[in-house]
Amino acid sequence: TVVGGAGLLWTSSSADTAQPQPGKELAEPSEVRSANGRLTLRLGAALGTVHIGGRSASALSFNGGIPGPTLRLKAGERLDVALHNGLDDPTNLHVHGLHVSPEGNGDNPFVMVEPGESFDYEYQLPADHPPGLYWYHPHHHGFVADQIFGGLYGAIIIDDPEPIDAARERVLIISDITLDGLGRIPAVSPMEQMMGREGQLVLVNGQANPRLSARPAERERWRIVNACVSRYLRLRLDGQRMQLLGIDSGRFGAPETVDEIVLAPGNRADLLVTMVDGTAVLETLPYDRGGPGGMMGGGERPRSGTPTGRASLATLTVAGEEVPAAPAVPAQPAPRDLRGRAVTARRELTFAMGMGGMMGGGGSMMTFTINGREFDPDRVDTTVEAGSVEEWTLRNTSPMDHPVHLHVWPMQIVESDGRAPDTAIWQDVVNVPARGQIRVRIAFDDFAGRSVYHCHILDHEDLGMMGVIEAR
Ligand code: C2O
Ligand code: CU
Repeated sequence: TVVGGAGLLWTSSSADTAQPQPGKELAEPSEVRSANGRLTLRLGAALGTVHIGGRSASALSFNGGIPGPTLRLKAGERLDVALHNGLDDPTNLHVHGLHVSPEGNGDNPFVMVEPGESFDYEYQLPADHPPGLYWYHPHHHGFVADQIFGGLYGAIIIDDPEPIDAARERVLIISDITLDGLGRIPAVSPMEQMMGREGQLVLVNGQANPRLSARPAERERWRIVNACVSRYLRLRLDGQRMQLLGIDSGRFGAPETVDEIVLAPGNRADLLVTMVDGTAVLETLPYDRGGPGGMMGGGERPRSGTPTGRASLATLTVAGEEVPAAPAVPAQPAPRDLRGRAVTARRELTFAMGMGGMMGGGGSMMTFTINGREFDPDRVDTTVEAGSVEEWTLRNTSPMDHPVHLHVWPMQIVESDGRAPDTAIWQDVVNVPARGQIRVRIAFDDFAGRSVYHCHILDHEDLGMMGVIEAR
């Protein structure tokens, strides 16, 4: 599809996916657990051969697998990761959503690991670290989208103090990829980068359309990561009972019955599925996140007219003898609510796309900025006081959605679409709709040091839509 406008030619990056027929049983990533308060592992990032949808492909992986191993540990424990860079480009590691120090050898986005080199990351989880699903991925500015699209990501689980009764727990990392006839990932075009690239295949744990099976009335806990670089997921599993425990690390007080879950790039879902006899398809429905085609038109939320395609992700078969019903989900502690707290500072962050210079081939190059500036690792854009509560208005003046991620400190949504949510909703990626805004509160309780916020359409981050925050 081509969207034209005043000298611009935009090719849609989101052609409908051609998912293969149901393939093999869903495989879980290998799991590494902590022992004696510590989890130690070596993560090697390298290019290698993997099998996707019955073909061999040449992709990137951590320790040879897509996804990388699942890391499972508890609040208060320590995580030591020796990252080895076997790639041709620099890289580094970000533990997305973890509330850990951004300083020194912690979740430090300014560390760079050159090809052939290693870096020893040390993460200390606070004793009151929220349980839930987190993930890890590279974060070297300029290479983030390529490396995640290439296959570098994995899950981190912080165990619940009181586990929720489930017959099975599964990690489902959803990603997308494009492979050419030789099983290689084609280089991204400048157009796709500006749109935010979407792969032609949508994978679950690196597999194309895997099968899952369960027995009627079984309750499973699914921990879902949207590891796609730019693709929004609108997940459905028609015919099955879905109860959402929370999004990102923000657990709701009580599970919510849902029939659809929207995950922006970077978001996670903590989901209970109670199995109903029959076959169900886990699918993602079209989501229109806008596009630069809308730069030319006015109006409320002009759209590109090229919404992300629909794709079936996995096929679930529920058969056999019914098991006894699982007990009710115990009430969860009420989430913290910053709405009663005094706010020390209010800020506005404006996410914008503008016309920049020319790019090769004659099209216009867009700029991706926050408060008018592109990322500069040597400039501090926002200074906050440790211990304070701030309220940020995230404004989006562009015709595309931008999912905004702040490292280290989770955000409480206090206004979205002009409405205040009834309950306390905590996320570490919040979607700021095209030409819309959202207000969040943030408690800068722990940790001094420098970190970043950015658009989690990682092509936009690589193009400059990232700012530096310093807490002191
Ligand atoms: Cu998941 Cu700064 O990113
Ligand atoms: Cu963006």
